[in-house]
Amino acid sequence: MLSNTIFYLFLVFVQLIPQAVSQNLPFKVEKISLPKLGWGLGSLEPYISKETNVLHYFKHHQAYVNNYNAALDSLVEAEAKGDYKTIVELQSAIAFNGGGHINHSLFWKNLAPVSEGGGEFPDLNSELSKLVYKQFGGFDELIKLTNEKLATIQGSGWAFIVKNLSNGGKIEVVTISNQEALFKPLVPLVAIDAWEHAYYLQYLNLKADYFEAIWNVINWKEAERRFNAAK
Ligand SMILES: [Fe+2]
Repeated sequence: MLSNTIFYLFLVFVQLIPQAVSQNLPFKVEKISLPKLGWGLGSLEPYISKETNVLHYFKHHQAYVNNYNAALDSLVEAEAKGDYKTIVELQSAIAFNGGGHINHSLFWKNLAPVSEGGGEFPDLNSELSKLVYKQFGGFDELIKLTNEKLATIQGSGWAFIVKNLSNGGKIEVVTISNQEALFKPLVPLVAIDAWEHAYYLQYLNLKADYFEAIWNVINWKEAERRFNAAK
């Protein structure tokens, strides 16, 4: 009798093993979605048109979100099958679309309508202002440098004004290709989208005009918040 019971428990135990393993296989992943905008789609006019924002936000950013989520589904499936080749293959789609989501989320938040402080530089006594004046001589000079860097981007990319935590918190201007994302020690303060989809509908081939105009709707308060929060 006892041996029958032990044998029964053994069978239950053996049956539970594959169940437990399979329950652990599909690891938990967090899907992403479009962030809410803090301003109306037409409120950045005339510097960024409503049509540009509609297309940029609902089509381009949404596509990064959708493609990232689809890549995650494929990753879970590949992980469950132990398909390591597909797992490796998916990394570039995850980095590209995830980077697109990170960069655009920064971009929307560092824009603001003129009526809500867009283009207004931080208080001269703020830590950010003090450093900008010390390093560059003023905000106009920092903007000029950023526009020069933006002009050097070949194809698609971004320029970022960053706080470099590995360089004593100094401010730097960096550019990236496509949708590479920045991580510590570089903390983005302002992100400028230099992809054609960000301006072409309104500015056509006059990319430099878009780069000049966008500073009228840059949310320096958000840049200051990021600067102060970056440790
Ligand atoms: Fe974009």
